[in-house]
Amino acid sequence: MGNTLKIGLFGFGCVGQGLYHVLNNSTGFKADIVKIGLKDKNKPRTIGKELITFDKWEILNNPEINVIVELIDDADEAFLIVSEALKKGKHVVTANKKLLATHLNELYRLQEENNVSLLYEASACGSIPIIRTLEEYFDNEELEKVSGIFNGTTNYILTKTIIEKLSYAEALKQAQDKGFAESDPTNDVEGFDAKYKAVIVALHAFGLIIKQEEVLNIGITTLHENDIKYASEKGYKIKLTPIIQKLGGDKVSVFVAPRFIKEHSHLYNVDNEFNGVIVEGQFSGEQFLQGRGAGSYPTGAAVLSDISALSHGYKYEFKKYSQKHAPVFTNDVFVEVYLRYNHEEDLKQIPFHEVTEKYASRDYKYIIGKVNLQVLIANKSYIINNHLFLSLVKDSVTK
Ligand code: HSE
Repeated sequence: MGNTLKIGLFGFGCVGQGLYHVLNNSTGFKADIVKIGLKDKNKPRTIGKELITFDKWEILNNPEINVIVELIDDADEAFLIVSEALKKGKHVVTANKKLLATHLNELYRLQEENNVSLLYEASACGSIPIIRTLEEYFDNEELEKVSGIFNGTTNYILTKTIIEKLSYAEALKQAQDKGFAESDPTNDVEGFDAKYKAVIVALHAFGLIIKQEEVLNIGITTLHENDIKYASEKGYKIKLTPIIQKLGGDKVSVFVAPRFIKEHSHLYNVDNEFNGVIVEGQFSGEQFLQGRGAGSYPTGAAVLSDISALSHGYKYEFKKYSQKHAPVFTNDVFVEVYLRYNHEEDLKQIPFHEVTEKYASRDYKYIIGKVNLQVLIANKSYIINNHLFLSLVKDSVTK
């Protein structure tokens, strides 16, 4: 597409304002924001009235606008906007991980059918260029695993509460004030946000479109000081980590859970809102990418990078998705976990396949061993409702 980008921007929250700032302070690249579509008529705005509209169709039906940048919160409204834009032959840049993870199949089809580009680098791990790295650099090499820290808010909370001894409420408030948290932070702390990103990454790493509802996410809401004490005594940190791993027989396992991180891990010193991604290739071995996973300017910078790529006619090829022998998603794997429990009945409810360690005093009980991921999926509500805490002790799964 030549280099005249006429942008219709939806949303002017944390990321929208970040993009506006980054765009206005970038030299060498200019894009023209024609209109900004907003929802709330009563919010005071720092942008000129002539730029604003409250009618999405004024943007979607404007033939001058050839790029839609979608940065709103509501995934359902975003789906309407993005799918309409693609059908109308407009290119789309979005940072909306819930939208993508929920509608990957349909959005993939729409951008193919309408021969337009749908880019979403900012949707996963903020400013870390993980999608483009997987798309462009690892487009041919078979990968073994992609794992890491994909959520800035939980990493910020875990850093501030465990290392700096702030209260959970204060750490969460800071994450919200700094613009890291989702508008509903349960999406962060319950692991949904990290799961959406894992689903997006799985497409580019392994050519897999997974139903996000089938992917387990266990968050950090039931973390107790006994768990922190246990981890600290062993010299571990606790991080919320997605694991996207290939197993024999072309199966891929994807899930999100807290994990004990040992000092030698690349992820050990990835603190605060930073994210880290470890990509393990069949031949290249381990690569580690680190950067700001959340925040207005870093995420705005990732959006700008996509807009810039559009000006060069860039489009994802989805090479791994198009290949003949795409892998299959499975939850039938074993994970090694620490589970803090309350009563022996908890262990009847959550049967372990192998036990390597068990401790039980009146106030603190834990078990370490192997359990099938499907058992954890079936008992996710039980774990949360009974305030049990689960943490992976290994960074990989077994068949
Ligand atoms: N709430 C998200 C996070 C924002 O904390 O990582 C970036 O996607």
